[in-house]
Amino acid sequence: MIEFQHVFKSYGRGRNILADINFRIEPGEFVFVSGPSGAGKSTLLKLIGGLEPPSRGTVHVNGHRIDKMPARARPYLRRAVGVILQDTHLLYDRNAINNVLLPLAVAGLETRLAGTRARAAMEKVGLSGKEDLNPVEMSGGEQQRLAIARAIVNRPAILIADEPTANLDQESARRIMEVFRDFNRVGVTTLIASHDGALMAAYASRTLRIDAGRFTDIPGVKS
Ligand SMILES: Nc1ncnc2c1ncn2[C@@H]1O[C@H](COP(=O)(O)OP(=O)(O)OP(=O)(O)O)[C@@H](O)[C@H]1O
Ligand SMILES: [Mg+2]
Repeated sequence: MIEFQHVFKSYGRGRNILADINFRIEPGEFVFVSGPSGAGKSTLLKLIGGLEPPSRGTVHVNGHRIDKMPARARPYLRRAVGVILQDTHLLYDRNAINNVLLPLAVAGLETRLAGTRARAAMEKVGLSGKEDLNPVEMSGGEQQRLAIARAIVNRPAILIADEPTANLDQESARRIMEVFRDFNRVGVTTLIASHDGALMAAYASRTLRIDAGRFTDIPGVKS
């Protein structure tokens, strides 16, 4: 489902953040990406989501080689991979449902079908009845769930989330994790970067750990 072969990543002329990374993730896995701040967790997720190109090496996602993917093939990746970034990037000039509708509009889905799908996505993350709120009127946990709804509305095969439970109380964090678990249970390959190993232990079954340029692939959960 995801395969890295001899992947290197540096920004500009800077040092290698990732160096000679090799791993393979099978469909349906739930993977925890761990490591201290600045180690390269977000960088790893961005390479999978096609938001950053690798400096060297090959990246396969959902059967496609994406390290050399031309710009016109990017929309394919947008549909295959649902991305929830560290900053949710919600749009505050429109209400919640219109945030969720955005990827469907980009994909050119017919308006009525798009509306049905967007409402279903909001229901799945427990936000029914909040469609008309502006994201600024929603709590941090609700905004995180809205970002998840927007990421899953295109029914991606892979979900990647960058610290989706940061700044949330334990109960809200657990609720967010249950949303990911539900998607994972129906076969969505899930990768989550987090500093909360204790929370991830209840959900993930494998850890990709990055620490000071060292990469380790660990069965089970280790923060
Ligand atoms: N666009 C960029 N340009 C230059 N350097 C960058 C860029 N993005 C990240 N970096 C650098 O790459 C390194 C890894 O950053 P990354 O965001 O992947 O870390 P992280 O493990 O996600 O950290 P955190 O836990 O704080 O989110 C950092 O030293 C950071 O400064
Ligand atoms: Mg990060």
